[in-house]
Amino acid sequence: ARLVVLVSGSGSNLQALLDAAADPAYGARVVSVGADRDRITGLDRAAAAGVPAFVERLKDHPTREDWDKALTARVAEHRPDLVISAGFLKLVGPHFLAAFGDRYLNTHNTLLPAFPGIHGPRDALAYGVKVTGATLFFVDAGMDTGPIVAQVAVPVLDDDDEETLTERIKSAERRQLVEQVGRLVREGWTITGRKVSIP
Ligand code: GRF
Repeated sequence: ARLVVLVSGSGSNLQALLDAAADPAYGARVVSVGADRDRITGLDRAAAAGVPAFVERLKDHPTREDWDKALTARVAEHRPDLVISAGFLKLVGPHFLAAFGDRYLNTHNTLLPAFPGIHGPRDALAYGVKVTGATLFFVDAGMDTGPIVAQVAVPVLDDDDEETLTERIKSAERRQLVEQVGRLVREGWTITGRKVSIP
């Protein structure tokens, strides 16, 4: 199966997929990495793995719709079976969702629907929850609202700060991403309303 991975930052989830895909038995390989900005570690990781990459910056387009169309076209060139947002910090638009909405995954660093948005672990810590985690879901038009594929729980410890909690979540998140993407590409999936079924 062909994976396109979208990144905006450090790309540690991308790295986990690259590492897993080095084994042909995994059943999927990263055929391209896309970013919305230059000079990020995620792009260095793609280069180090010999995977082609592209950058599509919002500010290079007159409107957000033009950016959405350009991103959709760039991703479509690689004929992905799955597109994975791994720390991609932009909400895609209607063109992208029309093309990939049934195969665009995102990983979020809380147990949704609690604490959506870009400061999930910080918000979870501030609220005082004792358990949080990571959620893998198919993206819909909302922010962190799509049908859930899998969740993993992670404890919040008494002496956690944002950094320690974020790192504990990320290591569980990477394992979940690799396992579930492997399962999806090997077994297939259907989305019916909010329900993701894996036969
Ligand atoms: C992940 O924890 C993801 O949930 C959040 O950003 C992080 C991306 O990390 N949205 P990385 O770029 O894969 O290291």
